[in-house]
Amino acid sequence: MDQVDEVKQKTDIVALVGERVKLTRAGRNFRALCPFHSERTPSFMVSPDLQIYKCFGCGKAGDVYTFLEEFEGREFPEALSYLAQRAGVKLEPIHKGRDYQKKERLFEVNHLASEYFHYLFLEHAAGDRARRYLAERGIRKQAIESFFLGFAPDNWDNLIRFLVGKKKYRLSELSEAGLVVQGRKGAYDRFRNRVIFPLRDVRGNVLGFAGRVLPGTEGEGGKYINSPETLLYHKSQHLYGLHENRSFIKKADQAVVVEGELDAISSWQAGVRNVVAVKGTALTKEQIELVRRYTRNIILSLDADTAGDAATKRGISLADSASLNIKVTLLSGGKDPDTISQHDPKKWRQLVERATSVYDFYIASTKKRFDLTSGLGKKQAAEELAPLLSAISNAVEQAHYVKKTARLLDVSEDAVVDEMARAQRAQALGVSGGASQVQEPSDQGRERGKTDRRTMLEEYLLSLMLKGGNTALERLNDVEVKDVSHPALRRILEKLFEFRNEAFEVGSFVASLPAELQETAQAAYLMDLAADSESPDFTGKEVERVVHELNLFNLRVQLADLSSKITALESRKRLNASEEKTLAALQRRFSDLSGKLSD
Ligand code: CTP
Ligand code: MN
Repeated sequence: MDQVDEVKQKTDIVALVGERVKLTRAGRNFRALCPFHSERTPSFMVSPDLQIYKCFGCGKAGDVYTFLEEFEGREFPEALSYLAQRAGVKLEPIHKGRDYQKKERLFEVNHLASEYFHYLFLEHAAGDRARRYLAERGIRKQAIESFFLGFAPDNWDNLIRFLVGKKKYRLSELSEAGLVVQGRKGAYDRFRNRVIFPLRDVRGNVLGFAGRVLPGTEGEGGKYINSPETLLYHKSQHLYGLHENRSFIKKADQAVVVEGELDAISSWQAGVRNVVAVKGTALTKEQIELVRRYTRNIILSLDADTAGDAATKRGISLADSASLNIKVTLLSGGKDPDTISQHDPKKWRQLVERATSVYDFYIASTKKRFDLTSGLGKKQAAEELAPLLSAISNAVEQAHYVKKTARLLDVSEDAVVDEMARAQRAQALGVSGGASQVQEPSDQGRERGKTDRRTMLEEYLLSLMLKGGNTALERLNDVEVKDVSHPALRRILEKLFEFRNEAFEVGSFVASLPAELQETAQAAYLMDLAADSESPDFTGKEVERVVHELNLFNLRVQLADLSSKITALESRKRLNASEEKTLAALQRRFSDLSGKLSD
């Protein structure tokens, strides 16, 4: 057996997916909200028997490898290497792609650098100032370990001497990892005299670093410097803390998004561990894709200044179009999550617990930015709020915020409502952008919407048969397989008919099918059925019901066919004797069948 197959066989797709996505049992399969597209009702299915997944909403489907590729954005060799390690299989070198081998080297370089920085921070005399600084900021040992914080000493080439001199990596590799800067007199360490935060991907690979100045040395570069964009690190695709906190996020089914590394770490210490940081930028689409794999609920807790407000707004509209539920914490007095967590951990927990709807945030934000005692200020605030308010779908919620806005502006509610109507007309005419809410069609029927009821029934029948095993298969005798209208389903049912007396096992059955039928069979097996959660008895009754309905379909088709033949003959002026006979036979058959139908 090929190593690719071996690794696959030693991996359980349910465990693999389940570590990343919340799965709920659905009969023989598991279901979840699809991690690959926005949806509010689950149409993503995982099968332990077939070791595959499929989303009936967006159509994404595959095995453990494609899942990792899609979910973690890894290339195949990397997915393979990860799964091999997990399964305890030692891979032969041919399985490692060239690109990945290069990445793996850079991961090693970064990993060693992170250990080096961490060691200096914890153990070395040079780390003393950094230790004192973080202690002053209230960062404790456990957090230092979890986030693997470090210290880069005040020297030009410490890291180079360690990684190139001692560990024999090439200087070009350090450069590719973004660890050194090319100067006129040669390369030197990028991170010097700074507290170091390793930036890790979800799996814990070190992609790069952030370094914060120590007090007293400000002015030597920015407060923070970061790794540049490299083969590994892409700022817009990274969320600080996601690796460390992903299990907390999954468990809380909620992610708190803060601005900086120390906001995240202090929040973590204060007991809000389901936290990630965007590192000073507005949330990007890629970052939203990342969190969406763990939760649909986001609490934005960005700085309360104007820039923070703008970032929050962008975050809201992005998260909104990705169908995430968003709330916002209202921070006041220029405090950030770090300061609040350090001074009053309980208050931070409460702020997160009491996060408000985005409308409260919008209202608070206009209050800060406009002079609401003046007519102009009120007009500006109203113009900003009206399109947002008119987009609220729940009438009671809308009334609540209309009232709140009227009170804020000290005008009548009618005036606010008028302004909302105006905004809506303007939006309908395409004048102003307003709150554009992208409505996605429901996921449920997107793929299936195209098929007619008969095909649906036939697919349902196949699904019941595949899941019901031998007990269900016994009922195949009642099915007129030759009358099944959908060709692929008919061929699969015919094959099943041959299997009905053998010990049935769905995996080997599907594998025995010709390649072009396998996908149809897999899809049928993954269908999320109400019958899945019921007893075999119920399944039996369902089969009976479906077979009955399908038979009715067939009767109707036959009757329609007979009827058109009869009409054709009857419309002739003269019939010869044999035609007369045929007509009579057709009529008899017609009345037989219609008798059956009315039974
Ligand atoms: N940032 C950055 N580069 C800079 C400045 C800021 O990457 N030159 C990022 C850092 O992740 C920082 C975040 O933006 O944490 C927010 O910046 P700021 O509010 O200025 O810093 P604080 O988070 O308050 O930093 P600290 O608490 O360490 O003073
Ligand atoms: Mn701060």
